[in-house]
Order: sequence, then C-alpha cells, then structure tokens
Amino acid sequence: MKDFVFRLPTKVIFGLGKAKEIGEICKEMGARRAFVITGPNIGKSRLLTEIKESIEASGVDCVTYDKTASDPSVELTDEVAAVVRKSKADVLIALGGGSPIDLAKAVAMLQTNDGSVRDYLFGGGKTVTKPAMPLIAIPTTAGTGSEVSAASVITDLQKKIKLSVTHDKIIPQLALVDPLLHTGMPPSITASTGMDALTHAIESYTSLNAEPVSDALGLHAIKLIGQNLRTAVANGQNLEARANMAIAALLAGAAFANGGLGVVHGIAQALGGLHHTAHGIANGVILPYAMQRNCVGNLDKFRDIAVALGENVEGLSLREAACASAHAVYDLLTDIQAPASLPAIGIGRADFPPIIEGTMGFRLLAINPCKLIERDIEGILEAALSGKLQNAY
Ligand SMILES: [Fe+2]
Repeated sequence: MKDFVFRLPTKVIFGLGKAKEIGEICKEMGARRAFVITGPNIGKSRLLTEIKESIEASGVDCVTYDKTASDPSVELTDEVAAVVRKSKADVLIALGGGSPIDLAKAVAMLQTNDGSVRDYLFGGGKTVTKPAMPLIAIPTTAGTGSEVSAASVITDLQKKIKLSVTHDKIIPQLALVDPLLHTGMPPSITASTGMDALTHAIESYTSLNAEPVSDALGLHAIKLIGQNLRTAVANGQNLEARANMAIAALLAGAAFANGGLGVVHGIAQALGGLHHTAHGIANGVILPYAMQRNCVGNLDKFRDIAVALGENVEGLSLREAACASAHAVYDLLTDIQAPASLPAIGIGRADFPPIIEGTMGFRLLAINPCKLIERDIEGILEAALSGKLQNAY
C-alpha cells in the first residue's frame, strides 16, 4: 500500500432547486457584490434572471457577464479578468458547462496573482502563489467535474493547443449542483459531457497515481454512468437519471483531480486545440480504443470497470474480462448515438502527425497505465480510424 494525499476542498451543496438559494449562500459567505460569469445562451435565459434575482433579494449586488465562449482563449481570459477587477466584486459565480467554469477559475486566480493567464499555463514559467478569489461553480452539464477540480483548460490560439492552469488554489470554494438545471440539456450534449465524465472516472481509476479514495469515487462514478447515461440521453426529463449523472460527474471530477488522467485526455486536448473537436466527443471517440491498448497495464482494474458497466464476466479469463470493458464502452457510445470513430468527426490519417505530437507533450501521459510512445498513439488513432475494436474475447 502506498502513501497518498487526497484533497477535496470544495463544499458541495446538492439538490433539486438548490440554484435558487444562491442569494442566501452569497450572503452567508459575507459577499457584498457577486460577479456571474456565463455564456450567451444562458445569458438570454430565464435561469440567469432567477440567479440575479435570488442574489439581489439577499441584499448582495450582482454584476453579470454573458460573453464567454466554448474553449476559452488566453485573450478572453485576460479580458474577463480585467472586467472583474474593475467591478470590485468579492465573489465570482460560474454558471454553465466546463468552459465558463474553467474560464472563471483562471479569472479568479488572476484577481490575486499578477500577469496574464499565459504565464500560468503549462510551460509558462509562473506558479500560482496566492489563493484565488472565492468562486462558486454552478454546473449546467454533467461532465467536466470542473466544479471540484484543480484544472482550468485554456486554449492557446497562437500554438493551436489547449493547455491548463492546474493548482489546488484555483479549486472552487463551493459547488452548487442542481440537477433541475440539466433537464434542458439536449441529448447530444448529455451524451458528450457524460462521456467526458466516464473518461475522467476510467482514466483516474487506472492511472499510476490512483489511490484508494480516488479509486472509490472513480469506480462508483463508472457504475452510475453505466446505469444512467442511456436514460439521461433518451429522456432528459428523468430526474433520477439526471441527478445520478450530476453526482457521477462530480465524483469523477474529484477522482481525477487526485488520481490524474491519461492518454485519452492527451489526444482529446490535441484534437480540441487543432480541430476544435468538442472535448466530450473527442474523449468518447478515443476511449474504447485507448482502453483496448491500456488494459494490459492493469488487467484487474479494467475487469472491475467491465463489471461496473454491467458486463457479465463469469467464465471469462482475467484478460478477457479486462478487454470486455472496452467493448462495454463501445456499446454505450453506440447506444447514446455518440461518434465512435475518427471519420465520424471528420478526422483522417493525414491529421495524425500533429495529434501525436500534441499527445506526446501531454503532461499526464506519464501516469497512463502503460508507457506509450509515438507508435502506440498512432496505433490507438488507427484503431479509432477503423471504428472497430479487436474481437479480443
Ligand atoms: Fe475531461
């Protein structure tokens, strides 16, 4: 048994309709002015009005900003950080999916740490030294787990790559998780964000940095996703499935914030930077093929994943049971009508070299369950190009 440290500094408030309590929560935190960061769709919605009304009814000023974009860039992050600085707000609220929450985490960090976000991205030379401004995350998707994680993914448009600021000091202080906010999510977004959560859970559970607490969270998240993602996609109004997916995304976020990630996120970040492939779709397209390659690195854990996803492994050898996990993920992708091959998202063999280069530069590749070199990444991409898993059992 190895030594480990597990961190989950975020207070979690979970429940149907809890988002409307945001005003009281801000007041209890001693806030005088809240700054809400969200995207243009939510900006036009009744939800933002309700959040603003709740905050103001509690005697707290409220400023809103609804111009965030998916895959926030360095430039946008620095711009929003300057707007927040001028507002004199004392609490930030991120309302939306992974992009506004990641943006808000970097913006909160830049309120107390000097310079541009570019300085704090991987390879940028600066480290976060001061605690970020208090941040409340209200996720409207069940996927990124950004509400409890230490990473803020920002796109460097110059280098065409997604990089991250990763530091304990940028973890949101509070996650307000209200599954009612998820019922309007369209099936395709439910599917792609759900695959992101599943990838977090599987990659953290099998990473070389895995430890008992992140394992417990990751494996339970895998089970919840296996039991609920199909229903959440097929019937978005099913509150039990929505609630279980929201919990799964949060558990998977806490799991990967501690246990780390692997090659699937390396390839997804490269695809996102080069081709703007949506993060969850990129993860889903790669996940079963990467699992097929990775399962020799930890047969026991990949067998656990197969069982958690409902596969009947009775009578199978350990290797066969481990391989069954990749097939279970492939079946899930097909059932939720998510892309399951690279051609389905417009990627061909000619795109491989920069994807492989970007993946090899991914910091967390070092904790992937198998040591991978360029040829292995190419093998995973070739399998994803074919859209077929080997008949390993
Ligand atoms: Fe992710």
